[in-house]
Amino acid sequence: MKNRFYLGLLGGALLVGCGDDAGSGGAGGGSGGSGGQAASFAEADVIEAFQSFESSGFTRVTKDAATSQHGASERVIVWVNDAALEQYLAIDPEDPEGTSEAFPVGTILIKQGANEAGEPDGAATVMAKFESGFNAEAGDWWWGRFTTAGELADSGVVGFCISCHESNGLQRTDYLAGTPTANRL
Ligand code: HEC
Repeated sequence: MKNRFYLGLLGGALLVGCGDDAGSGGAGGGSGGSGGQAASFAEADVIEAFQSFESSGFTRVTKDAATSQHGASERVIVWVNDAALEQYLAIDPEDPEGTSEAFPVGTILIKQGANEAGEPDGAATVMAKFESGFNAEAGDWWWGRFTTAGELADSGVVGFCISCHESNGLQRTDYLAGTPTANRL
């Protein structure tokens, strides 16, 4: 992965290419952050996936829309994209000792909001796994919240999402809670 990223950089900026810690202060080094965008997974990809998650690339995991600590919607339904489905299903929230490897770059989890009858209300919270280094202190997850109008409200490194997932002890399963086996489709 890294190689693909740096290939993009090398095309434009000869000396900036190697070494994360090489000083980026040199004249013209400003392209460091954006040069690899074509090859990397970014917010635009998450937003695009969100437009059609109910019809392509995702599997609904939750059987009956469930209550949630999230609180914004009455109920929630978890959807997971193909890149992560198997690994997500291996997390059992009832196993206090369960662990998980880091999820692959490109993983997207969508927690869709719904009313008490289980009908989606348009809102969602989303986690997406970005490239290594995006936010190394908290698993390189991108966090986002869509309103019922489908607008992205909070996004990126969102402190209140991270701190609550951490206070639930979820680092051991790469910040994910998992869906109870009794309530899976
Ligand atoms: C009050 C604590 C709390 C906050 C704040 C919070 N979460 Fe969660 N999150 C949880 C818990 C607990 C679960 C699993 C069970 C549940 O829904 O209650 C969960 C589950 C999820 C899931 C489903 C995937 C899984 O199995 O873990 C996603 C996606 C998610 N949260 C994203 C977010 C995002 C994005 C934010 C911030 C906008 C956020 N969360 C804020 C506690 C929280």
